Amino acid sequence: MTHWAAMPWRSPEVAPRGAFRLHNRLIGAWRQPARTDRPELIEGLVAQPARIPPKYLYDAVGSALFEAICELPEYYLTRTERAIFVAHRDAIAAAAGRHRQFVDLGAGDCRKGEWWVDALAPRRFIAVDISTAAVEPALARMAAAHSDIEFMGVITDFSRTLDLAGDLDSGPVTFFYPGSSIGNFTPDEALELLTQIRRLCGRRGGLLIGVDVPKDEQRLAAAYDDAVGVTAAFNRNVLNHVNALVGCDFDPAAFRHVAFYNAPASRVEMHLEALRAQCVVLDGSERVFAPGERIHTENSYKYEPQAFAALLRRAGFARIAVWRDEAGDFAVYYAE
Ligand SMILES: C[S@@+](CC[C@H](N)C(=O)[O-])C[C@H]1O[C@@H](n2cnc3c(N)ncnc32)[C@H](O)[C@@H]1O
Repeated sequence: MTHWAAMPWRSPEVAPRGAFRLHNRLIGAWRQPARTDRPELIEGLVAQPARIPPKYLYDAVGSALFEAICELPEYYLTRTERAIFVAHRDAIAAAAGRHRQFVDLGAGDCRKGEWWVDALAPRRFIAVDISTAAVEPALARMAAAHSDIEFMGVITDFSRTLDLAGDLDSGPVTFFYPGSSIGNFTPDEALELLTQIRRLCGRRGGLLIGVDVPKDEQRLAAAYDDAVGVTAAFNRNVLNHVNALVGCDFDPAAFRHVAFYNAPASRVEMHLEALRAQCVVLDGSERVFAPGERIHTENSYKYEPQAFAALLRRAGFARIAVWRDEAGDFAVYYAE
């Protein structure tokens, strides 16, 4: 039987997204944070050098392009992480425990989280993402396939804060944060997010997280600048998203995708570089981009395992297990 169980919207600045179709035991916590996109984006675009926070890469087109990136030969991250999950499934499942609440952070199409459903048999599956377009169909698909699990979607921007206290029940929880998405935050921001996760874990919860490792510069650069140009399209599409959010007139074709490994900072950087001089109307004034001027769109920090374990400990995690692939390209941690 299909039933409806709407959650109360939790704060005055939080607006409901409107009704959505509920399947068996799919409960609603959809919410949008107060719209702060416009000032944040304009501040970044008028800055020197200009920047766009990476969360804006994920509109409906960006989320679909990211799924395509995961299939690219150069993008070793997804398949290497998956190989670690396959090789160490039982050990990871023993560490993470069964029948818990499972929180998929930056869930996207939820395929990675869904892969753990058999091994971990979660009671509740909570998908957290900034992109409704990716998560909504994924949850509908999963709710239809797993009638014994309670599904919930939380649409929020956790670069501001990870406020899930009202969404979790008192049972133990496993947080899942795959794909080295933690690398999009600076180490200080990552520490802040990990600390918030640790608090939500309480005494009986844990975090299963996948993190990329520094390696050969050319392999790293190729992973973010593939031969067929999917990552370039993903990067340039951010300008379409910004045009829609801010009401400006960027021409994505007038920018070229640039990706490189910044070894001293241990991060891959993505930028958009103006191919010619151009003038973009922003909030009534004009922002001129000189030829060759760049907009910084993403960082992907890479961590040696000792360095990431140290970050986890600083965030308050005590017991940390780590699994790697044979080549040592990627690492998966379970931290309690
Ligand atoms: C690199 S993708 C990873 C998707 C999937 N978990 C995987 O590993 O393949 C990052 C995901 O995090 C979401 N995301 C990015 N920034 C976010 C933010 N600040 N708050 C919430 N979700 C965010 C994106 O919409 C996207 O689905």
